Amino acid sequence: MDQTLWYKDAVFYELSVRAFKDSNGDGHGDLRGLTEKLAYLQTLGVDCIWLMPIYPSPLRDDGYDIADYYNIAETFGTLDDFKTLIKEAHNRNIRVITDLVLNHTSDEHPWFKASRSDRNSPYRDYYVWSDTDQKYQDARIIFLDTEPSNWTWDEKTGQYYWHRFYASQPDLNFDNPKVQQEMMDIARFWLDLGIDGFRADAVPYLFEREGTNCENLPETHTYLKKLRAFMDENYPGRILLCEANQWPADVRPYFGDGDEFHMGFHFPIMPRIFMALKKGRADDMIDILNRTPAIPENCQWCIFLRNHDELTLEMVTEDERQWMWAQYAPEPRMKLNLGIRRRLAPLLDNDRRKIDLANSLLFTLPGSPIIYYGDEIGMGDNIELPDRNGVRTPMQWNAESGAGFSQATIQSFYAPIIDDQVYGSSRVNVEFQRKDLLSLWNIIRHMIAVRKRHHAFGRGEIEWVDCQNDRIAAFGRTHEGETILVLHNLSDAKQRVSLKIKGSVKSLTDLLTQKAFPFDNGNFDIGLDPYQYLWLK
Ligand code: GLC
Repeated sequence: MDQTLWYKDAVFYELSVRAFKDSNGDGHGDLRGLTEKLAYLQTLGVDCIWLMPIYPSPLRDDGYDIADYYNIAETFGTLDDFKTLIKEAHNRNIRVITDLVLNHTSDEHPWFKASRSDRNSPYRDYYVWSDTDQKYQDARIIFLDTEPSNWTWDEKTGQYYWHRFYASQPDLNFDNPKVQQEMMDIARFWLDLGIDGFRADAVPYLFEREGTNCENLPETHTYLKKLRAFMDENYPGRILLCEANQWPADVRPYFGDGDEFHMGFHFPIMPRIFMALKKGRADDMIDILNRTPAIPENCQWCIFLRNHDELTLEMVTEDERQWMWAQYAPEPRMKLNLGIRRRLAPLLDNDRRKIDLANSLLFTLPGSPIIYYGDEIGMGDNIELPDRNGVRTPMQWNAESGAGFSQATIQSFYAPIIDDQVYGSSRVNVEFQRKDLLSLWNIIRHMIAVRKRHHAFGRGEIEWVDCQNDRIAAFGRTHEGETILVLHNLSDAKQRVSLKIKGSVKSLTDLLTQKAFPFDNGNFDIGLDPYQYLWLK
């Protein structure tokens, strides 16, 4: 099989280095700590980890505000530690991708400091400056809760600068060829260190054009194609993963003719998985997948249940958003911008049946799955923390006072450990769950292992199946002569499933339990318990 297409079958795992494991007792996770935990990730079955930003940063946006693209933040370690991480990960057949933040820098980046020091600075044109704040009025504000405008006034030089995120994250000016080249050089630097690709952050916003919403512009695609060509030429097998929180039809161009991104997050399917679970019906999922255009053979969707940001509700209608907030964000603090800042387990009432079912959808719907660190053990969140920090708390390794995360005194942890009655680290932790064969961790590990034996999950077509019951999400995944019929009971009641199965098949076997379901005359008829799921071959 073509090894350069590894990402089509891979299981991804997103983590914050700060939150994962502290090796030197300063209360912040670091690269050496992560390196110690690679064995854990290998046991879970992870093929590729995505590291949130690891670069020096004033941390106004948890590292997505980069002050130096060529270094590692001091608390995380050194470039040598990074090289060791890559080597050790590769020894375990784990690939590593990192965040590449193209759109903006920190306002503490030397380019911006120079740019704002003087209108005649050679770096002035690295950013987007204007005499008026009336340009590009059709561009929406993304961080709605905090930013009144995409323009911020600079007192010293008497102009406004443009930013799509926090004011402390000025947008780079991609119309400047020097900026384009700088970003290419940065990509080269990290690829030379051996990484396997990038999760490219916030790509829709690279260019600005009057009279447009300044998203997904043709110029943006032209630049991204250049980046891809550069990678193909020099680093075959390394990937670009696209963060474009857009409708499927607008994400489609990011795959180009297989010459832009290898992968793209499927944002709209995510909230619809939560809708399906609440409504006990699959319609919304079916609808969005039907509206999802085909992508080139060498491309792949990336699907997720949660990530480090709020559960975004940008890709739903206004009515759906209000409904989702009412269902999943009953307390005002749970809302953030156009989303919900909660983790998977609390969103699903800590109900193992629903959490397992959601994971089963994650591992069987088209695309490569990404697990968000901590969700494999059902970690809780802390909505008292500001911004999105409540879903970025320390990983819970064991029941010790520091949760096995750090030897530092708890007071010096970068963020408090979850310590409530339900989700506290003395109850929810890796050590307990590894020993318990029925734990969420063991179920997820098992799903991953089974998934890996069948390319139909990563590569197969999907076909929705009518099983005479709209409480069931039933679909087939077919690839190279193998078909797997996946059934999910989305409801909290028992349901019957009746299907006509063509051909000479007389029995289906659940890949997860090896249980066989024999049937006669092509009439497959079974009952499913509340939230039960089957992966039938
Ligand atoms: C992406 C990141 C988010 C960050 C933003 C600005 O959306 O996922 O965490 O705040 O970009 O860089």
